[in-house]
Amino acid sequence: MYQFHVTEAADFIQKQMNIEPTVGLILGSGLGVLADEIKNPTTIVYSDIPHFPESTVSGHKGQLVIGELEGRQVIAMQGRFHYYEGYKMEQVTFPVRVMKQLGVETLFVTNAAGGINESFEPGNLMVITDHINNMGDSPLIGPNDDNLGPRFPDMSEAYDRALVEHAKASAKRLDLHVQEGVYVGNTGPAYETAAEIRMLRTLGGDAVGMSTVPEVMVANHAGIRVLGISCISNMAAGILDQPLTHDEVIETTAQVREDFLGFVKELLKTLPA
Ligand code: 6GU
Repeated sequence: MYQFHVTEAADFIQKQMNIEPTVGLILGSGLGVLADEIKNPTTIVYSDIPHFPESTVSGHKGQLVIGELEGRQVIAMQGRFHYYEGYKMEQVTFPVRVMKQLGVETLFVTNAAGGINESFEPGNLMVITDHINNMGDSPLIGPNDDNLGPRFPDMSEAYDRALVEHAKASAKRLDLHVQEGVYVGNTGPAYETAAEIRMLRTLGGDAVGMSTVPEVMVANHAGIRVLGISCISNMAAGILDQPLTHDEVIETTAQVREDFLGFVKELLKTLPA
């Protein structure tokens, strides 16, 4: 990871925006609509930003949207980079480094995930309390720049406990039922087998997806506090007697859209400064 690449990307973005975002939003599959609600938006497509990779999967837009949401200055990623697309971990997490350089202190990461916990239902929202890195790789491998963060970063509170409490209180105010649990990050692109899902359940996973873990590790390394929200778009393999499809993932996230939008807006509106 070349710091001057981060600086060049951040400078390019900075020149086009007239605010100072302190909250970053990474919007997962089908959840990018949140960025459409940002007021006075500055939109920058990834392909215009120096050193940014380009997004390839359908259902992802591939742009930054910077502006105001619920009175907060935010920078949102409408679409993210996935490891399964073939990007290196450092490419997947590059935007988080850029956000840090732009002054982001709090990162909301969102995703669509499969439910492992049998008490979950498709359409549930889950506040992520912790994760399991099951990707067999780490974005923090390689030379460490001590100016960015420590060689051996703590991950004992990867998802800020105060933000988890904030999320639960916010859901309660909205009368919104949210689950909480552990997110397992797998590489994808194949969905898991039923045996793999049984294994992940035994290991303590509540939901499984193909993203989030790398970005959260880099955010923690950089001292950014993280709040994670999964949209349980479907049950994982072996729970219901039906095959998994990406269409189902997109369909369910569309149905939960209103809950999701209301939840994140309330989180922002009442976020302690
Ligand atoms: Cl079941 N598995 C993974 N790895 N990612 C998902 C999913 C399942 N459902 C949505 N995203």
